Amino acid sequence: MPRVTFTPDDVIVDVHSGENLLRAAMMADVQVTATCGGDGTCGKCRVIIEQGAADAIPSTRLSKEQLAEGSVLACLTHVTEDVVVRIPAQSRPGSVPSTHGRRAAAPLLSAEEHAARIPKHKSRPVASKYYLELPRPDLSDNADSVSRLKGALRREHRITTTAMSPEAIRQLPLALVQGEWKVTALVLEIHRATPLVIGVEPGDTTAHQHTVAVDVGTTSVEVALIDVTTDTVLAQLSEYNRQVLLGADVITRVIAGSSPAGLAQLQGLIAETITHLVNEVCDMAAVSPESVDAYVIAGNTVMTHLLFGISPASIRTEPYVPVTTQFPLVAAHDLGLPGSPVAMVVAIPCPASWLGGDIVAGVVAAGIPWTDRLTLFVDIGTNGEIVLANREWMIGCACSAGPAFEGAGILHGMRAADGAIEHVRIDDKTLEPAILTIGNVKPLGICGSGLIDCVSELFLTGALGRNGKFMPLAENSLRFREGERGPEFVLVDAQDSATGNAIVLTETDVESLMRAKAAIHAGIDVLAECVDVEIDQIEEVVVAGGFGHYLDLERAMVLGMLPELPLARFAFIGNSSLIGARRAATCGEMLKKAHDVSEMLTYVELSVNVGFMDLYMSSLFLPHTDLTRFPRSEALLSRRSGAMEAK
Ligand code: FES
Repeated sequence: MPRVTFTPDDVIVDVHSGENLLRAAMMADVQVTATCGGDGTCGKCRVIIEQGAADAIPSTRLSKEQLAEGSVLACLTHVTEDVVVRIPAQSRPGSVPSTHGRRAAAPLLSAEEHAARIPKHKSRPVASKYYLELPRPDLSDNADSVSRLKGALRREHRITTTAMSPEAIRQLPLALVQGEWKVTALVLEIHRATPLVIGVEPGDTTAHQHTVAVDVGTTSVEVALIDVTTDTVLAQLSEYNRQVLLGADVITRVIAGSSPAGLAQLQGLIAETITHLVNEVCDMAAVSPESVDAYVIAGNTVMTHLLFGISPASIRTEPYVPVTTQFPLVAAHDLGLPGSPVAMVVAIPCPASWLGGDIVAGVVAAGIPWTDRLTLFVDIGTNGEIVLANREWMIGCACSAGPAFEGAGILHGMRAADGAIEHVRIDDKTLEPAILTIGNVKPLGICGSGLIDCVSELFLTGALGRNGKFMPLAENSLRFREGERGPEFVLVDAQDSATGNAIVLTETDVESLMRAKAAIHAGIDVLAECVDVEIDQIEEVVVAGGFGHYLDLERAMVLGMLPELPLARFAFIGNSSLIGARRAATCGEMLKKAHDVSEMLTYVELSVNVGFMDLYMSSLFLPHTDLTRFPRSEALLSRRSGAMEAK
């Protein structure tokens, strides 16, 4: 890991190779002015490389003299080796010294680290193609064509017992003629089911095998197009779930989906969302959508019901049961999804009404079914889903977090996409924000990780009280004003945003975030109490969610969203639902493990849990009413206020 030393504060941070230098400074809490989101246009993030070399994109914002002294724009520079970087006085908004001597890199697990958590399995993908050369029949060997094909699968690929779909049997005679008895069979292998031949094509088409993994979220949907032959993701894309037209939250969708007309409309909208994304990723990878042979879907229970056209009505009323936890194998075309004529849809099982296949997939992706370590898994989305588990036992719950973390319900919120502010630092004295956006482009809005950063930074500067209200100190800053919706903090001035309008954070936005974080923290407390575990006995915390590539876990602790534990115990794995769906698509053993997890999980229904509401109310402050549980946040708060007073 390259090491970055920032002077004159002598702050050190270890980062992943290729890390953006502005992000490295933000991770180290070194103040650098940055108003354009990392777009390279404001020219305010100039720093000087004093030792070592970094990968910098040349900028016309720098003079010849500045270039000669080693100046670069931090937002356009990537770190690949140890460097010493000086922050000139002009690039420091308020010059408050950093509160950290040293900080580790954001513990985002890499693909390799994910893979290392899961034992290697030689297991076939959910859908695979097999090339077969069939013996022609004659008078001495007059077995039927289906038996010949099954025999060839057994002999050449050791697939012993097989069934054939009616469509595959219909395709067989023409494929045999066109391929002159050389054909490719498409076989679906699902946990506990007989391998099923779902299609037959003439000749050898094994070079083209594509499966789509889908994470169906209430707010966002993300798909990954997988080349099954190489187990690689060819393209990946997300967008808002078009069902938001009928309501932003999951309860509204359940109500809408309780009538036949509403259910049909919601099914159509989710199919439309997935179809659009699949067409886009196929376009990006120069692959025909007709080459998609299978889908593996991981979604929450309501979304999975809606995609399959099953009424979710029973989920909303006591005793809160779904229609099914296991979903049938369905043809993609029957659900309105693109693909080959025989493409099938496989859904990860949903163990309970409010604990779905997305969480099961995430638990598998995090490697929890293979670990002895007591692990807390927290998936933060429209709902906060929490699992406390190891390989022996698993307990989980879900709490309504609201859509704040996905950027919805926030005045200038947006999902984690290009232009979303994902990282914020606010100068203690001047209250001037430095921002970094996804894609290093002009800011469009703020996503979940940016929101967490912004609120925790305002709290640490003293501009936001423990109750989530702006403090009198804020009134002295031009950054605070009275907006149409009450008091607001101007995060980006109109001239610096991509929309031409200021990007602001309102007190109502802060309230939404506080309700969401309180629900998650209280849910964690409930699970720990259920199994009589002290929070500090938790050996690992895996945080998942569609935050983009970055979530500052320490800031999430400052908010009181996550329990305060040593940072080394935390890992952020991004969209674990999609990772799990992808793994299940390319390895049958992973799909089997998903079924095992679904059966192992004990679900705790928070709406009838007597202690939940008390724990929730205690968490509705920054960071919590019980400050003894957050000593590090308290220390950080006093260090920053001490640093301000010393100025
Ligand atoms: Fe780097 Fe604006 S030029 S943040």
